Amino acid sequence: MCGIVGAIGYETTTEILLKGLERLEYRGYDSAGLYINDQTGHDYLVKTVGKIATLKSAVKPTVQGSLGIAHTRWATHGQPSEANAHPQFSTSQRFYLVHNGVINNFTALKQQYLADTHFASQTDTEVLVQLIAKFVEQEQLTTLAALQKTLQLVNGSYALILVDRDQPDQLYIAKNKSPLLIGLGEQGNVVTSDALATYDLTDQYLELHDQEIAAVSADQVQLLTLQGASQTRQPITITVTDGEVSKGTYPTYMLKEIDEQPAVMRRISQKYLTAAGEPQIDPNLLTALAQADRLYFVAAGTSYHASLVGKRLFEKFTQIPVEVGVASEFGYHWPILAQHPFFIFLSQSGETADSRQVLIEAKRRGLPTLVITNVTNSTLARESDFHLDLYAGPEIAVASTKAYTAQIAVEAVLAKALGTYLKLPAAEEWSLQTQLGLAANGMETLVDNKQGWSDLANNFLGASQDAFYLGRGIDYDVSLEAALKLKEISYVHTEGFAAGELKHGTIALIEENVPVITFITEASTAGHTRGNVQEVLARGAQVLVIASEDCQQADDQIVLPQLTPELMPLLTGVCGQLLAYYATLQRGLNVDQPRNLAKSVTVE
Ligand code: AGP
Repeated sequence: MCGIVGAIGYETTTEILLKGLERLEYRGYDSAGLYINDQTGHDYLVKTVGKIATLKSAVKPTVQGSLGIAHTRWATHGQPSEANAHPQFSTSQRFYLVHNGVINNFTALKQQYLADTHFASQTDTEVLVQLIAKFVEQEQLTTLAALQKTLQLVNGSYALILVDRDQPDQLYIAKNKSPLLIGLGEQGNVVTSDALATYDLTDQYLELHDQEIAAVSADQVQLLTLQGASQTRQPITITVTDGEVSKGTYPTYMLKEIDEQPAVMRRISQKYLTAAGEPQIDPNLLTALAQADRLYFVAAGTSYHASLVGKRLFEKFTQIPVEVGVASEFGYHWPILAQHPFFIFLSQSGETADSRQVLIEAKRRGLPTLVITNVTNSTLARESDFHLDLYAGPEIAVASTKAYTAQIAVEAVLAKALGTYLKLPAAEEWSLQTQLGLAANGMETLVDNKQGWSDLANNFLGASQDAFYLGRGIDYDVSLEAALKLKEISYVHTEGFAAGELKHGTIALIEENVPVITFITEASTAGHTRGNVQEVLARGAQVLVIASEDCQQADDQIVLPQLTPELMPLLTGVCGQLLAYYATLQRGLNVDQPRNLAKSVTVE
């Protein structure tokens, strides 16, 4: 999703904005721009399509000032173009605005209030800045009052910064459903959608809540509700280290984050288990979960796939039925709920709009909610009743890797803690401390064999534009995730399929040399899956079998160390990540920032 950075009171505003945008590149974007004002009557607007490097080369050394706003755009309304890039500005060129979110009623607002306005772009954002200008220039409202009036007409999501060039000592900001933070610096203040952009300037941040606005000057912040009621809030500390956000010696963030997974397993073990290996979970959360007669997992993408594994863990250890929903579907088609539902949201970013809309409705219905996320101060974490951290460290690459395996590990901790709380025998079947240790060691074995994975990707996936992942049970859950990994970064059209279901139609797509990758780690279904392997081999597919020790056969290409079957996704998931990574490199594609994708999907 779009990235936003604003700064006021600094002499190095241009550098701050450009560095901030570079740190937000991982969120995904297609164009960028900035507006700088030197507060003595000179101002500059620079917008380009493509990467930040292009914007940087277009910013002349004279573009300096002590107030500025900048933006990376992930196109929602209007194709990537200079005109559609932000900052958007009023016809009078007095007002400049950057925005992350979607204005649902922008067309109606245009028709009702701006019928005679010439629009320079196709964006919903331009409607905001033109409306503000109209209310100031034609109705003589103050800029703050015009912003309030405009936002009271708006239906949609926004994180925005507005500049009035006739008042260049203030940044006007507002937030609804999209994240926005005010960084309290020494020389001045910054505004950003993500503290990763400005962590070297401050670790003190004020979070804006929905329907709040603020006037930010170099040395003070006036925080208000949209209706104008003054708000006070204590800053939170957000610390980010260079090591966490830099690639270090790695060529890509994704490879660094794949390699970090053993350490993440060990960190989760340290954070959530006692020295004796017993899970440590907030007893209030366990008490609340124990009241449930059904658990509802709601998530998107990779987090949805991790939720599928979570269903198996929770039903095994707690005997509580679990439903798993795709957030964007669940949000508009609520099922008939059980008497005592409990909602669990997995979200690496903690900002996914599809998931958040379900969380808001669950809270409206007075239902208990837990968010398991990698971003402690995220919107979802803040708005849920309970939240658990993944402790995976910032995940910069768009393709989620360490967050996926961390989600499964934390689900296992919580499921066992709840099973133990409910005094159910299954929770004692195996030691989580032992299993997470074995998982970390197994992951190390996998990531230490990079050449092997590169060769396998090259020999097996080669230049193919189609591929299948097959599995049964938990191996089907991982097949869905491995397929997403491969298609989202290599653009190979990949299907994750239930092995037994293939013959009911889709096997028609199997022809000579189609790559089929099969996970076989579940003893109870291994024989059937191997039968399905024969079915695709008979039709010319080339098959790669990834099996666990207990399920292996002589000619399997990859045999994985044996974990308890419920945690084998910690290893099969890494196999899918490595195959996707090397297949993408071999296609010469951008592993960290695949086309069309965003790291944090803050629009529905
Ligand atoms: C995963 O590789 C993708 N980047 C995407 O599917 C992601 O998992 C999905 O958008 C959900 O994001 P979240 O975990 O931050 O809610």
